Amino acid sequence: MNGTVYITRKLPEEIVEKITNHFHIKMWEEETIPVPREVLLKEIVEVDGLLCLLTDLIDEEVLANAQHLRVICNLAVGYNNIDIEAAARKNIIVTNTPGVLTETTADLTFALLMAAARRVVESSDMLRNGEWGAWSLMQLTGQDVYGATLGIIGLGRIGEALVKRAKGFDMNVLYYNRTRKQEKEQELGIHFREVKELLQQADFVCLLLPYSPAVHHLIGKEELALMKRTGILINTARGGIVDEDALYHALKERQIWAAGLDVFEQEPVPVDHALLSLPNVVTLPHIGSASIQTRMSMANLAADNLVSVLTSGQAITPVDI
Ligand code: DGY
Repeated sequence: MNGTVYITRKLPEEIVEKITNHFHIKMWEEETIPVPREVLLKEIVEVDGLLCLLTDLIDEEVLANAQHLRVICNLAVGYNNIDIEAAARKNIIVTNTPGVLTETTADLTFALLMAAARRVVESSDMLRNGEWGAWSLMQLTGQDVYGATLGIIGLGRIGEALVKRAKGFDMNVLYYNRTRKQEKEQELGIHFREVKELLQQADFVCLLLPYSPAVHHLIGKEELALMKRTGILINTARGGIVDEDALYHALKERQIWAAGLDVFEQEPVPVDHALLSLPNVVTLPHIGSASIQTRMSMANLAADNLVSVLTSGQAITPVDI
């Protein structure tokens, strides 16, 4: 055996087996309940590797307790739950799961866009509540997707995959990225805009950038005020990118048309959260990558990273600092 690893959530048997072939494992045996912090703080002390989820905060305090830890494998592409600088200071390798969830997350982003534009959830609720009186000319009318302008903030893998879907709907695609990607503009038929112009010109604004303190509340009151009254905001990245209070007021006062949110600042979002009271918001419980195949690919990649680092010192998909 090459050491001991801790897994912060009950994973499918074939993934656990893959890890057990190499290491002694300890695992939090719950599928839907995150490991309590005090348990994590205790378990981290002796282990060589950690396989964790985005619900686990791996901060200075956790890392200070780790005596032998060599690798943290996050079962997600986003890693804002991990203090990567603190990990680097202790020479701990951090890995994530890029690539394997790209298409699935782009699918969900487009689904959310369409659902918000065409009021799919609101319409379904009306029918189920017995409120469908008669087919009426302007009842439950929404916004067209075909031929509209899509603005993507954050042109990474998922952003690019979203462009391909948008092109199938003849959309005009604008993008903002921290570093302009001129080579992609020609290849994908997209146009660069600064955030301000993008917000003003787009019918749909999709947030697909990684979260860091630098983009905390990137979309706030002033930014929402730039959007069209018919504009729709879609967030499948991280909740902290949007000022939820400002978004609530913009939606309530019909400054913007609608929003589709797969992520929230606090997850699970409290059921009495103001945003959940609005009919023009489609809300989902962070399911961007949630297809069976993709979630298994993510788990396999996280497990492969764990085995690879602890047996050969090489990560397959390391997070760069
Ligand atoms: C991620 O991987 O960062 C997503 O938020 C969950 O798939």
